[in-house]
Amino acid sequence: MRLSLKTRQVAGVTSIVGLAVVLLGGLYVSGIGRVRLEESRARGQFLANAIYHRAREVAAANPDAYAALRSDPGLRSILESSVYSQNVTYAAIVDAKDVVIAHSDAERVGQHLPAQPDLDTLLGEYPWRQLRAIYAEDGRTLEIQQPLLAGDVRFGTIRIGVSMLLTRADLYLALRPAVITALAALLAASLVAMMLAQSLLRPLHLIRSGLSRLGRGEFGVMLDLPRQDELGEIGGFFNVVSAQLSADRARLAGEKSTLESVVDRLEDAVAFFTPDGELLFANPAMLLLLPSNPGTGTLADLWLPEHPCRLLVEQTCADGQSHGPMSVRADDPAVVGWLTDGRPADGTAAAEAASPDGQLVMTHAIKDPAGRIVGVMLVSRDLGYLGEVQSTIQYSRKLAALSRLTAGVAHEIKNSLHAMIIHLELVKQELSGGPKGEAPVDRPAASTHVAVIASTLRRLDEMLQGLLKFTRPEELRLQSVTLASLVEALMPIVSAEAQKSGVDVTVDCPRDLPALRADPAMLQQALLNLALNACQAMPDGGRLRIAGRAVRDRQVEVVVEDTGAGIAPEHLDKVFNLYFTTRPGGSGIGLSMVYRTVQLHDGEIEVQSSPGKGTAFRVTLPRA
Ligand SMILES: Nc1ncnc2c1ncn2[C@@H]1O[C@H](COP(=O)(O)OP(=O)(O)OP(=O)(O)O)[C@@H](O)[C@H]1O
Ligand SMILES: [Mg+2]
Repeated sequence: MRLSLKTRQVAGVTSIVGLAVVLLGGLYVSGIGRVRLEESRARGQFLANAIYHRAREVAAANPDAYAALRSDPGLRSILESSVYSQNVTYAAIVDAKDVVIAHSDAERVGQHLPAQPDLDTLLGEYPWRQLRAIYAEDGRTLEIQQPLLAGDVRFGTIRIGVSMLLTRADLYLALRPAVITALAALLAASLVAMMLAQSLLRPLHLIRSGLSRLGRGEFGVMLDLPRQDELGEIGGFFNVVSAQLSADRARLAGEKSTLESVVDRLEDAVAFFTPDGELLFANPAMLLLLPSNPGTGTLADLWLPEHPCRLLVEQTCADGQSHGPMSVRADDPAVVGWLTDGRPADGTAAAEAASPDGQLVMTHAIKDPAGRIVGVMLVSRDLGYLGEVQSTIQYSRKLAALSRLTAGVAHEIKNSLHAMIIHLELVKQELSGGPKGEAPVDRPAASTHVAVIASTLRRLDEMLQGLLKFTRPEELRLQSVTLASLVEALMPIVSAEAQKSGVDVTVDCPRDLPALRADPAMLQQALLNLALNACQAMPDGGRLRIAGRAVRDRQVEVVVEDTGAGIAPEHLDKVFNLYFTTRPGGSGIGLSMVYRTVQLHDGEIEVQSSPGKGTAFRVTLPRA
């Protein structure tokens, strides 16, 4: 049973006062009891003394003392007067054998009167023994005894009986006002305790109601406790904490709405779950993928057991690790289905909302600073949207590649046009006979200029043909092919070229490298161009190394490096331009072809070179 604070306080004060009353009452009762016993003793002793004096006189005057005592009217009247003495029940004189000689009740003369315990002995005992003698031993009589002496000879005993029953009644009368006073004190103590509790508990009630208002989310709850004690201090603390809490709540509400609006605008579908797998929040994109009535929001209410989203969230809840990405196809049987309660899983509406390309789902474990998992974030990304982004990137990369190729072409065309203008000007001069027309027409010189113009035009035509070749979409015949087989196939040509200038060739392409997805003829031509360029950069011999290795993200890297002349820093960003060459007799097409081939294969190419030390071309291509 739970007692209220007020009840406990009242009970505590009342029991303390009650205990004090009981203790004091005990002391009082024992004191009164003792006084009553002593009074009885004094009265009995007074009576015994009177009897003693009379009995001695009577016994001294008569030779038969017993007969004289029995018949003496003075002694009889003293004995009979004992009935008027409070609490005294009898007074008697007995002989040595306890046979009554004289008694306040005349009929008992000659009877045997057994001796009773001595009242004096009881008065020497502890108070509780005295109380027990009064209360516990029902109707008991104690005696005051005094020997009767004739000279030194004891010839009888005076015995005064004191009734404990009468003493108890006497005591009861004396105690009644004391008991009434004690009860009144107890009542007063309870009342005072109640009033005290009321005044002490009022501030506590105020604080309690303030706390419950705060708990309900009320803002700016303030307590008015104008006290100068500890409770007043607590009221002050409460007001400070309440103000702080209100400020924090307002800030959090602002942050939450900002966060929600950010998450709401995300392209990705995002949902948060508790560590027990209960849905806390889902942004609009995610709501489209969930059943329209998500029940209690547990995982079982949202998805079928094999649904990738459910599997990932369950795994993250269990091991506290992030999982995914995992792809989900809209026609997956785990996605299109019905939940146990007959509601559609995200199969109908969700499949319509989801992109036909499917989704990529992943989970992130959200942890507190102590590393405990506090939630799980589920992100679902539309693969169709990803594909759009990817193709946009590829398109811009292709544009960049094209502009790289055409940069060289524009330069060439400009040079050719410039040359033709000069030669046309010269032809005009030759045909008109010098600048002033005074010289004869020099036909052979004019036809030389025309020949130069014609050859420049041819070159321009070739150049445009070459450019068309580059820009025309070419069909790729992609297949799974190993790098080792490609390099092996071009080794006879490379070795022949290497031998001419004394170049040492090393091939390091393990056979167990993952296969590439490539057009073999095109890729072989590109690798040959790189190898031939390397040999041409080492006319006085050197080392050529062709190496392959698997790299992360499902790629294979091919390196063609030499110890040749290297590329000047100012030429590094031009080497892939169409028609850029520094080699006498070179066409400047080789590296452009390599660049285009790598682009068509969705790969990447980079070059590192130090003049005088050598050059390395690094090509990364996707695996099959
Ligand atoms: N391994 C290399 N070492 C040094 N310079 C190189 C190397 N590979 C290419 N180059 C530089 O890049 C330029 C362009 O090379 P590219 O292969 O496109 O043309 P080319 O070799 O000059 O002529 P071709 O069209 O006959 O191949 C070269 O002229 C050369 O200056
Ligand atoms: Mg070349």
